[in-house]
Amino acid sequence: MHILLLGSGGREHALAWKIAASPLVTKLWCTPGNAGIAREAECVALDVANHAAVIEFCQRNAVDLVVVGPETPLAAGIVDDLARAGIKAFGPGRQAAQLEGSKGFTKDLCSEFGIPTGAYRRFSKAADALAYVRVQGAPIVVKADGLAAGKGVVVAQTLAEAEDAIAMMFEGAFGAAGAEVVIEEFLSGREVSFFALCDGETAIALASAQDHKRVFDHDRGPNTGGMGAYSPTPFVTEEIHDQIMERIILPTVAGMKSRGMPFRGVLYAGVMLTEQGPKLFEYNVRFGDPECQVLMLRMMSDIVPAFLAACDGQLKNFDLRWYPESALTVVMAAKGYPGDYKKGSRIDGLDAAAGIEGVEIFHAGTVSKDGQILANGGRVLNVCALGKSITEAQRHAYEAVDRVQWSDGFCRRDIGWQAVEKEKAGS
Ligand code: AMP
Ligand code: GLY
Repeated sequence: MHILLLGSGGREHALAWKIAASPLVTKLWCTPGNAGIAREAECVALDVANHAAVIEFCQRNAVDLVVVGPETPLAAGIVDDLARAGIKAFGPGRQAAQLEGSKGFTKDLCSEFGIPTGAYRRFSKAADALAYVRVQGAPIVVKADGLAAGKGVVVAQTLAEAEDAIAMMFEGAFGAAGAEVVIEEFLSGREVSFFALCDGETAIALASAQDHKRVFDHDRGPNTGGMGAYSPTPFVTEEIHDQIMERIILPTVAGMKSRGMPFRGVLYAGVMLTEQGPKLFEYNVRFGDPECQVLMLRMMSDIVPAFLAACDGQLKNFDLRWYPESALTVVMAAKGYPGDYKKGSRIDGLDAAAGIEGVEIFHAGTVSKDGQILANGGRVLNVCALGKSITEAQRHAYEAVDRVQWSDGFCRRDIGWQAVEKEKAGS
């Protein structure tokens, strides 16, 4: 099979690594890719926003399947355009991608199909939004409706913060994404992520995985795309797993089907475990990054038949197998991230780090120049490790991190801490 993968992050390196391991695959391309992906796939420069160019590449190279990593091409309808050209693509179409592309769309779906979530209202005028938060009071959550690169959510602890967030969004801080604002009830509880593979009708839960969004140790500092992740997570017990499937994931898949926009691809739910049970606070329509990295390390099954079954509506009798080991990934980022950072600094020691048993290094923002690996983004490396427990995986991952020589980089030193504490308490 010929496969084309779209994306350039750590998530796509992990996907490329897993796809390349499939005996079904004879050729893998990735656009644009990165220095690590180049070891698994032939990296090609395509303008992914130009769907005709992607279609032309697929036709010229007899591509059998396109796998879409990030949300932007999904929201732009690349899967629909490829399908119209007779090319199979893994991921939701434009309408189904609204689950991530419009917070208001998802909230309305929840209210129509009885999916537990926080109370909310949608606003297209600042004055109405301000009047509403003044009645509701704080804490309260202000969200730009559209895609805002993970920055469009303000959890306001005070009324003044909520008012500032509303003003900022309606003044255009997120462009068109903030033309509409959703104001949502603040949900308190433990936050967990839940991933399911969907074919429009059937959903299969993936192994559990949890990321750390804050930039600094002890979950402090601003939100990022994710500074590390681990799998499995001890906080999604069997009972909670079943509740999330029955109350959130399955009604979503059924609701999307009944609306004539079946969801195919990976559904990633952000769920708060509240005193009243699990409540959905957001959907993404793709794998999480860096959660994907730990999921790929633990996935025993060949991923390619799983992608094909999701595209073809054949997940009903499908089964995914996982290794029992735990996996953990530490993100190494450029100093300054998630704010401004420099590009171009040199990274050494990667082979020594990858030499530790059970360690796999997935690249995110890297380029290769004259045989050297250089930093080329905010999140730059994912140092991943397997272990018999999260504690052991964490130890292996940090042993590997300590072999990486990169003076312009930093990482959190406590990835997995909640799970490690729980393992300590249970032993
Ligand atoms: P997002 O950018 O959509 O991933 O949201 C960023 C973070 O905001 C999430 O990881 C949650 O911690 C938090 N969040 C979003 N919605 C709520 C809510 N209704 N109540 C409390 N926290 C929330
Ligand atoms: N790790 C969070 C995300 O992928 O959105």
